Amino acid sequence: MLWVKAFHIVFIASWFAGLFYLPRIFVNLAMVPVGSDAERARLLLMARKLLRFTTMLAVPAVALGLWLWLGYGVGRGAGWMHAKLGIVLLIIGYHHACAVLLRKLAAGESRRSHAWFRWFNELPVLFLVAAVILVVVKPF
Ligand code: HEM
Repeated sequence: MLWVKAFHIVFIASWFAGLFYLPRIFVNLAMVPVGSDAERARLLLMARKLLRFTTMLAVPAVALGLWLWLGYGVGRGAGWMHAKLGIVLLIIGYHHACAVLLRKLAAGESRRSHAWFRWFNELPVLFLVAAVILVVVKPF
């Protein structure tokens, strides 16, 4: 079980590296001056590649967590696990929101300011802190 937990943490950390950096690219995209097509195309390419890579990391991160929970029964019926799963659903929703925002940015339909994307970029920090406290401290 410890190998599963070890790789769960490795993939969680990698998933979050992507979730921290992707909205950063959105901040830059929202600040690209009109007419700077080359810079816009470069940032869009980076964002698409990073989204694909981050999604590939999210799958084993969640799968290994489910293995710990359902396979080994760790946290089954525990309040902290249910709360953690709630946070996980928010994280998956955030990941999906990044894909939708990228589609809108690529189509030139995004009306969000760079300031909005800076606040949006802070959310994964809150999710990570909440999930790690729940699973390590197990407060309830
Ligand atoms: C469906 C998704 C997930 C499930 C079912 C899940 C389940 C679990 C389970 C059962 C453990 C073992 C807890 C223990 O041994 O005490 C664990 C460990 C851990 N999980 Fe998850 N997890 C999921 C997603 C996440 C996410 C999104 C994060 C971080 C944001 C995360 C962070 C951790 C950490 C840091 C540990 C190690 C805790 C320790 O060693 O005390 N997990 N996870």
